[in-house]
Amino acid sequence: MIAEETATEELIAQRVAIPTLPGPLAAILAAVDREENGAAEIATALACDPGLSARTLRLASSAAYGTAEPITEVPRAVMTLGKTTIRRVVVQGAVLACFETLERRDAARVERFWMHSTAAAHIARALARLRVPDLAYGPEELYTAALLMDVGSLVLLDHDAARWCAVQERTGRADPRELERLHFGVDHASLARALVEAWNLPAVVAEAAELHHGGPVAPALASFAAVIRAAELLAEELQSSRDLASHAPAIAVELGLAPAACSRALDVARREWNEVGLSAWRQR
Ligand SMILES: [Fe+2]
Repeated sequence: MIAEETATEELIAQRVAIPTLPGPLAAILAAVDREENGAAEIATALACDPGLSARTLRLASSAAYGTAEPITEVPRAVMTLGKTTIRRVVVQGAVLACFETLERRDAARVERFWMHSTAAAHIARALARLRVPDLAYGPEELYTAALLMDVGSLVLLDHDAARWCAVQERTGRADPRELERLHFGVDHASLARALVEAWNLPAVVAEAAELHHGGPVAPALASFAAVIRAAELLAEELQSSRDLASHAPAIAVELGLAPAACSRALDVARREWNEVGLSAWRQR
């Protein structure tokens, strides 16, 4: 197993460069992860990145966190959001920073990536709030997992846009991993795993990357896979403002929940995505 992992790492190193986590953001993540640190220490660490501080305030003031009036102090925003969400905001900022040059080169594709990822993340989190039986992770972990499960696609797009487009054209919405391995030598799920390890991100991101296009799943991850796959499937519908409720009965069966509860959760996902997802992307 270790020899297999080393071979994959070597292959990735030879084929495609994994971006390194920017130093200042690594320092903020370390501050978030230090157990003894509270809201004041984390707010101090965030102060070195005004963009992230502003994003934290905006997010904490949004309807998704139920605050009656805008939050204007970062320590209070940190307390409102909690460490898991702050960590995700920092990681998202790190991914944005790493692919800034790509974004300048190919803004439309990078925006499409984030629209899809944030839509999937909001759906995954809304479904995970429903007390899905045997779901191994919490709503915020599901959000992070769905947000970053396709991050390997950005690495491939950055590496060779023409080749990436050729793969996309041939696969459409189907699983592109086999063609990616053929054209790049690695697929976006393996790259997500490599990034997770290099950046010390939660393993849940790599797990979501592995299973969001289908394939066999260990029984312990069955509920997790069902939420992630529903998020992947419905993200496109949400982006295109199509009806989500009609999917609720099938998702309810998959997750062992009541259709009405699923339908309400999908409504919440749409509202939160419209309010936070889109504005966060446009205002960042
Ligand atoms: Fe994917």
